Amino acid sequence: MTLKVLHVASECVPFAKAGGLGDVVGALPKTLAARGHDVRVLLPKYGFVDTAAMVRHAAPLAVPLGDGEAWCALWETRIPGSAVPVYFLEHEALYAGPHLYTPGYDVRDWARFALLSRAGFQLARHLEWVPDVIHGHDWPTGVVGAIHECIEGGAPFEETATVMSLHNVAHQPLFPPPAWKMSQLPERLFRASAFEDHGAMNPFKGAIATADLLVAVSARYAWEITTELGGAGLHELFRARRDDLIGIRNGVDTEIWNPRTDPRLPARYDVEDLSGKMVCKAALQREVGLPIDREIPLLGIICRMTHQKGVDLLLEAAGPILDLGVQLVVLGSGDPAMQRAFEWLGRAYPSQAAAVIGYSEDLAHRIEAGIDYFLMPSRFEPCGLNQMYSQIYGTPPVARRVGGLVDSIVPFPSDEATGFLFDAPTAEALYGAVRQAVELFRHAPHAYRRMQERGMAQDFSWNGAGVVYEQAYLRALARRRAADAPGPALDVSRASG
Ligand code: ADP
Ligand code: GLC
Repeated sequence: MTLKVLHVASECVPFAKAGGLGDVVGALPKTLAARGHDVRVLLPKYGFVDTAAMVRHAAPLAVPLGDGEAWCALWETRIPGSAVPVYFLEHEALYAGPHLYTPGYDVRDWARFALLSRAGFQLARHLEWVPDVIHGHDWPTGVVGAIHECIEGGAPFEETATVMSLHNVAHQPLFPPPAWKMSQLPERLFRASAFEDHGAMNPFKGAIATADLLVAVSARYAWEITTELGGAGLHELFRARRDDLIGIRNGVDTEIWNPRTDPRLPARYDVEDLSGKMVCKAALQREVGLPIDREIPLLGIICRMTHQKGVDLLLEAAGPILDLGVQLVVLGSGDPAMQRAFEWLGRAYPSQAAAVIGYSEDLAHRIEAGIDYFLMPSRFEPCGLNQMYSQIYGTPPVARRVGGLVDSIVPFPSDEATGFLFDAPTAEALYGAVRQAVELFRHAPHAYRRMQERGMAQDFSWNGAGVVYEQAYLRALARRRAADAPGPALDVSRASG
């Protein structure tokens, strides 16, 4: 069966990306389209999106907002290298700024993203194209799940199923109740079993309560969010929706992340011949100002500098780790105190540590290829992409035993090991795993090489996940057909505390 799927999202590579969500929305639709489905994507036209090579639709979209309707222009292009149409919703006042998300989640973000979700419904009408599935991603598209309760949700959408991807349930902005009026959504949706959360409005909670199917970005994460520790206050809701909650691990866009073809690398390589990786290592050492020496273990990390990513654990363990005689390269931005601490580390250990504060896709590729171990001391990690990129690039990860990291790394000392996992979210546990990894690199080069080979041989492509998503969509459609009664059958309030 050919499925018509509309992704509504706040990020999509290569147009707009803040994190892995953008990688996923850039890749999954391509995979599904290659499998014969009719897949399209709707995004906001942020200020930095260049429409020069896009086609503008003659008719604007009118979307309910505020006291009347917001008139939005519509631009169309394709995801590069594919036939997947991408529509950009233009609204000068709401999207023209430089940010994807307003810092601190200003209440205007509610207007921005409620508008986006509902524009998805209007887009389908405008195209006279009724999707089988509308697929939303995290809190910005929370309204997608509620289509059947919105004024737009009658004909022709009665049979359209809604799927909500759960990339990171920890991001739950709360908006003040008056914002509800601005979005012109039915009052009945602002209830404890949907969008209302202790008097405030919680788009993610509303999405989780109303979507036909919930897809966590790894199987482990699908379980973690049903626990008090991992559910970010919504574990009771996830438990209540257990029958509609599945986990599908993200894949890797191997057209972008592939050491055999990667144009961003100074040399290319594959599992048969890793000599190009040594060229990448030397070039990276030169680029970041570290002594060029292939024998020195080179560790690296690329991430948003946040509590989630455990970079503070790395800062705490940095002294002992560097005392092992290794080099460390850091690429990231985020928390200003963490940024300063890494910059200080680079100054204090100029021959061992280098910190690049900022965001660079190009450097990210060169780091993945040039280092010997990739560090991911995440406190929680719904899926994580870098540990998969690194394995493909012959760089075993050293990561915490959590979320998607568990589902994508076979830990040392198994015969099948592709990396290292440690348990406690502590500097000591991270140090212990790094020390083991460094010993393997120094004293068991053949075992290290086999670990690299096993990682490179993993199939992390989207092909497998694409098949599972098809099944998930069919399941969502069956769920929708069974749910004749208006509104979700649920009545679960957010667990307090
Ligand atoms: P998250 O989405 O939680 O940040 P993921 O591992 O899923 O974590 O995805 C992060 C993505 O963002 C990866 O593609 C990673 O390479 C990229 N990334 C994060 N920080 C930077 C940076 N400073 N420069 C370049 N890429 C970055
Ligand atoms: C989120 C998660 C990350 C995941 C990404 C893509 O940003 O933090 O673990 O890989 O979404 O699903």
